[in-house]
Amino acid sequence: MEIMPKKKTTASSLNKEKFLIIGAGNMGIAVIKSLFNHRISSKKIVVIEKNQSRELKKLKRLNKFEIKNSIDKINNLYQPTITLIAVKPNQLKTLNGLNKDNKLSNSIVVSVVAGKKIKDLNKVFKKTSGIVRAMTNTPVSVNMGTTIVYFERKIKIKQKRPIFDFMSLLGQVSETKKENLIDDFTAIFGSGPAYIYLFINSLIEIAKKSGFKNPEGMVLQTFLGSILLLLSGQKKPSDLQKKVTSKGGTTEAALSILASNEGLKSILTKAVKKAAKRSRELSKII
Ligand SMILES: NC(=O)c1ccc[n+]([C@@H]2O[C@H](COP(=O)([O-])OP(=O)(O)OC[C@H]3O[C@@H](n4cnc5c(N)ncnc54)[C@H](OP(=O)(O)O)[C@@H]3O)[C@@H](O)[C@H]2O)c1
Repeated sequence: MEIMPKKKTTASSLNKEKFLIIGAGNMGIAVIKSLFNHRISSKKIVVIEKNQSRELKKLKRLNKFEIKNSIDKINNLYQPTITLIAVKPNQLKTLNGLNKDNKLSNSIVVSVVAGKKIKDLNKVFKKTSGIVRAMTNTPVSVNMGTTIVYFERKIKIKQKRPIFDFMSLLGQVSETKKENLIDDFTAIFGSGPAYIYLFINSLIEIAKKSGFKNPEGMVLQTFLGSILLLLSGQKKPSDLQKKVTSKGGTTEAALSILASNEGLKSILTKAVKKAAKRSRELSKII
């Protein structure tokens, strides 16, 4: 797995592009917001959404971009260069109309649709400049997502840069050259926020049981402080773990359980394997 070399995404690096966003639910709206936050012109963003949410209507009032309720309504003169597909997996088949008039022939199509492989997407989007599968996680809504992209073979290196810049609007982006790693990504990073919330919530409940009245803030501060400490230096998490663990002390007592052979790593490994298996099963049935 590779991380594309970091390059600051600027409005100008995406200003040449024309965007078509299909499906403005949670994911679509996060992308539209981040495009506007990066000052992309509203003339370069067209959205297709059947049921406009209050949030989408508010965004439109503020930014005056075009929203159509179906694919047929897109003006043929609007030729997108980057198209985001952000509909639910079972709604993908409703997008066949995009092949009419070769609407996407100059566009790279980026699909965030869970479980739909490049071979499935090629059946729906027949004439494109290339298809990219992207998988991400819920922190995209605060531009702190972790995203992985898999490029269809025919996509050339120079076509990749704008896609990295586009997905970087939502956080960090890495590339995988193996499509099947997307299931593992989903199991580790897609579901990852839930594991972290479970850990946070468990500590909150333990602290409450010990007698602390409102320990939420203390637990969050411990998480945030630990992450910031990690980011502030060159040390690895294992180094910092050792630093907190003095011989015969309290942390060592706790880690004799948490870091034992049957401890956290072993439980997480089992959980992630089960999630990855489920991801593979789901992509066969959705
Ligand atoms: N949310 C995330 O963080 C996240 C992370 C990773 C992957 N994903 C993937 O991203 C995709 C979208 O997720 P989401 O949470 O944003 O879903 P969502 O909130 O249901 O949004 C999808 C939107 O697309 C609309 N739509 C469906 N078919 C359409 C069509 N033919 N023309 C116009 N609009 C259409 C839907 O309208 P209706 O209201 O009529 O259904 C809905 O508003 C899913 O495939 C999901 O697996 C999401």
